[in-house]
Amino acid sequence: MAAPTDRSNLIPLSSRLKEGRALALDVWTIFSAVNLPHDCINLGQGYMNFAPPKWVTDAAEEALNAVAPNHYSHPRGRIRLREALKAHYSPQLKRDLDVESEILVTSGANEGQYSVFTAFLEQGDEVIMFEPFFDQYLPSVTFNGGKPVYVPLHPPKATIAKPTSDDWTINVEELRRAVTSRTKMIIVNTPHNPVGKVFKKTELESIAAIAEEFNLLVMADEVYDCLVFDGREHVRIATLPGMWDRTVTVGSAGKSFAATGWRIGWLIGPKSIIQPTLAASTRIVFCTNSPLQEAAASGLEHAKEHKFFETQLAEYAERREILCQAFDRLGLKYTLPEGSYFVLLDISRVDFPDDYPFPESVLGRGRDFRACWFIATEVGVSSIPVSEFYCEEHANIGEAYARFAFCKDVDTLRAAAERLQGLKKYLK
Ligand SMILES: Cc1ncc(COP(=O)(O)O)c(C=O)c1O
Repeated sequence: MAAPTDRSNLIPLSSRLKEGRALALDVWTIFSAVNLPHDCINLGQGYMNFAPPKWVTDAAEEALNAVAPNHYSHPRGRIRLREALKAHYSPQLKRDLDVESEILVTSGANEGQYSVFTAFLEQGDEVIMFEPFFDQYLPSVTFNGGKPVYVPLHPPKATIAKPTSDDWTINVEELRRAVTSRTKMIIVNTPHNPVGKVFKKTELESIAAIAEEFNLLVMADEVYDCLVFDGREHVRIATLPGMWDRTVTVGSAGKSFAATGWRIGWLIGPKSIIQPTLAASTRIVFCTNSPLQEAAASGLEHAKEHKFFETQLAEYAERREILCQAFDRLGLKYTLPEGSYFVLLDISRVDFPDDYPFPESVLGRGRDFRACWFIATEVGVSSIPVSEFYCEEHANIGEAYARFAFCKDVDTLRAAAERLQGLKKYLK
């Protein structure tokens, strides 16, 4: 066959990339700082504008100055971090965790989750996720041959004047109807991104009963487990009767220690889940970066003496308050989150001209893309359109919301709160 004359795309792409929206221009790129006005306050992507605690970065520096932590770690993770995870999680999971077979350190929660999919999904296996969902699940499932199946978290009823994330509800019958002979797994994300929902014990019990009845693997994505507000209880589904054997609990040093760029995460579960996942993870990344594992270990080891998690939670509660008060002053509805660091703002009343000079990247997407773009350019505060957290069929539900992240220092949030008052003149 003659060589094509157009040489700009000589080599055909893997069909894998055509699924799971892997090739679509993702929302993080569209709303990244480089595309927005240079002084725009970034409440879009969920990363902090403050450093990890000093004693943790000191431990990172110390590790870099030693020899061993500059080299390969054991694929399971460095023993110091696994011991620290054991000490931290054993009481919470109500069992004496085994560092050799029940804990796996991964390259962020993302890679850990990817490796679970690699280890357990057969071509065509279905993975149930509540919608809206953390967008990374989608390609992680489809790259591994899986098929996402969506079950709604129903938005708060319009009659609720001041909704909280608890007003986003699941319908157990809908969940049951979503199960087929091909269902392999269900993802339960609590506290939830982007809704902030902290699943109640009764909800988790219903999910657990279905997992038990249909023999499903449960992926408990609990990366925001240290951000549960107002004294609410964070229930770990792995602790419910019989659930340990079918649940893998996911955690992240990025979220726990304000270090999202470190790419340290972990999986905790029975040997029957961790061992095959280790086999996958070893062949994907071999091991995770070593010096920052030492630092994450130090963070867990010394958290108590620094009252770190209590202090961090109080700081996040203050941040949540600043943002929510700004929306109260505007008279706009939002979902008060019980956990995580996101607030969903109802943007249906934000009015913008149809002929506003929107870039190509947001035209042809949901109304929320245009609203977020308009707010960022006119008011100077960026957020993320929530339709991105829905499948195409249900994207219209997400179009009513913009997600604002409050993992920023209080000065930044106060400045954003002031700017957001500028929205008043655009409300209908
Ligand atoms: C629900 C959820 N799970 C997993 C992750 C990924 O965490 P990590 O940065 O440790 O890979 C995120 C990050 O935003 C998240 O929101």
